Amino acid sequence: MTSGITRRTVLASASAAVAGTVVGAAAADGTAYAAGGETYAAGGTDWTAVRRQFRLDPRWINLAAFFLSSHPEPVRHAIAYLSRQIDADPTRVDSLTLPDGPTGWDRVRTELAGYLGGAAEEYALTGNTTVGLGHVYNGIPLRPGQEFLLSDREHVAHLGAAILAADKHDGTVRTVPLFAAPENATVDEIVGRLQQEIRPATRAVGVTWVQSSTGVRMPVAAVADVVAEANRGRAAEDRCLLIVDGVHGLAAVDTDLPDLRADVVAAGTHKWLCGPRGTGLIWGRRDAWPYLRPAVTPIFREDSIANMTPGTFHAFEHMFALPAAVAFHRGIGRSAVAERVTELSAHLREGLAAMPHVALRTPLDPALGAGITCFDVDGLTGAQTADRLAERRIRISTSPNPPPYARIGTSIVNFPREIADTLSAIHDLRAP
Ligand SMILES: Cc1ncc(COP(=O)(O)O)c(C=O)c1O
Repeated sequence: MTSGITRRTVLASASAAVAGTVVGAAAADGTAYAAGGETYAAGGTDWTAVRRQFRLDPRWINLAAFFLSSHPEPVRHAIAYLSRQIDADPTRVDSLTLPDGPTGWDRVRTELAGYLGGAAEEYALTGNTTVGLGHVYNGIPLRPGQEFLLSDREHVAHLGAAILAADKHDGTVRTVPLFAAPENATVDEIVGRLQQEIRPATRAVGVTWVQSSTGVRMPVAAVADVVAEANRGRAAEDRCLLIVDGVHGLAAVDTDLPDLRADVVAAGTHKWLCGPRGTGLIWGRRDAWPYLRPAVTPIFREDSIANMTPGTFHAFEHMFALPAAVAFHRGIGRSAVAERVTELSAHLREGLAAMPHVALRTPLDPALGAGITCFDVDGLTGAQTADRLAERRIRISTSPNPPPYARIGTSIVNFPREIADTLSAIHDLRAP
């Protein structure tokens, strides 16, 4: 897969939703970094030009940038453009415009659907993944004695949403391991374990597309088959839904959301999509809509998943600037982004796997991974590894669940040379 996109087209497309002055400003911002950066020529995309769109500290190798968006220039510009309009007259929030035309709820949903798949009415908008998952689980009409079944590696945002909702209905949450060791996980193991665990009382199965605690990319479509099998012969009111925390797959994996074949996907758009901070979405399959009831007064009165969008006033300059993030990613190309993320991760994982003092915790199989890689260094906790790398101005993070592995996310702001430098720094962490 190659995108054939050049620096000029990246910048032109990325700027499509905002003013034409963007290119000059971005070049000035990126000058310091560009000197030490490199163009990734093989895929045809000018990654240095992409990197210049960000104000990330050029003195650091940032392998945690996926964690929360550093706004690229087109997004910064769009936010400022909208903010000026709101500050001038806050009553105008129904008629805000980006330089290329009106923006608002409908445009945001239409553009997300155009980029991520499905139809606009299948999208609701939220402030982040956590809020989205909270709405979804709260909306499921659980009956006493019924349960939500989650993988034991779910982020607290997902687990918490299920627990809070189940408590209200005298239901329960059961967490189960879907693999023994993340690095050796296989599709057959995940599917086999899930088949054993779904019970008649299970009203939702909750998994994460790409786990932030292990880096494992779950085979969501295969999981959907298991859930569909469990639903065979069930009464409609007892249907088991498949709910996916999609935050680390969205804009990192080249898959349309409907092709995951989940019932619902909740995700922040302020991580891999580089969207405005404080934005997120819920995508819902049409035949799942009747099972999802809003927990907060909705902003729309549509008979669709849209009514999971909570009212009323929002940080509109952020929410309605989302088209700029979509345009930025579209300018690079979804497959080019995913290919870049995957290639950098593969390079990293192969290097880590070859080091005797490192235990890789993410599968080497690219089908079971995406942009997140977890690992342990002999004699160091994940936090100690992060601290030691920070001494060399390499920013990594740690996984949020125990055990807290060291964690690296390779994203569109990174270069192969940064991965090589990071591998060399991890190599040097060997005990003498
Ligand atoms: C897997 C996973 N789900 C949910 C969240 C919470 O995301 P948000 O900040 O969009 O609520 C995180 C945070 O990084 C995460 O890693």
